[in-house]
Amino acid sequence: ERQIFVTRHGESEDNITGRIGGDAPLSPAGRKFAKALAKFTQAQRIKFACEMASKANELEPVENQTPAKALEKTAQFCSSQFTIWTSMLQRSMQTAESFDPDDYDVKHIRFLNEINSGICEGLSYEEIQEKHPQEFKLRQANKLFYRYPGMGGESYIDVIHRLQPMIIELERMTQSCLIITHRVVMRILLSYLLDWKRDEMPHMMVPIHTVYELRPKPYGTELKKWQYVE
Ligand code: F6P
Repeated sequence: ERQIFVTRHGESEDNITGRIGGDAPLSPAGRKFAKALAKFTQAQRIKFACEMASKANELEPVENQTPAKALEKTAQFCSSQFTIWTSMLQRSMQTAESFDPDDYDVKHIRFLNEINSGICEGLSYEEIQEKHPQEFKLRQANKLFYRYPGMGGESYIDVIHRLQPMIIELERMTQSCLIITHRVVMRILLSYLLDWKRDEMPHMMVPIHTVYELRPKPYGTELKKWQYVE
């Protein structure tokens, strides 16, 4: 059994001004989330290790142990590998900066970057509506297939295709992991892991500072949602 955590990066400077795309750094609130995320993940990892250890009958039931004893006894389980994947954009990499590199194997992967919005990069939705009204309408009419015009512009379908190797790797690996990514990529990964309908997927709410914890089981995937409150 393993844990898969999926979240968006912490709030970025562009999230504050409502600009899409780009490569902005985290805002002060985003940096706070990044710190909280590292603490949260560590705590969940220890809890999970305790659960697994008592399940495996190798330790006493968790409730009989003092926190210190439990910690010590589960150290071996915690030392099992835990991978963090981020995209190669600043806001995603910065969200992983508070994790101890001795305890986590952090990898930055370009495939996890946010959708490329071509000529609309750096604009707000209001500005897109104003400067490119036709494009705005076309996207609203078919968000899944609409491809942003301009260099490198992508559609959801394009992002689904570039994520295929990541999804195969995620299926293949046995260790727990945390994926720190972006709105479109998160929607696609969750739709795959949670069987969301493809047509609804581009419209699903996936707010920032919310962590999805998934546990794949033989009968389906268990889901817990965690929200960061300051
Ligand atoms: O606003 C953040 C963001 O990740 C943008 O960079 C991206 O273009 C957008 O969300 C994607 O969301 P939607 O597909 O709903 O426009």
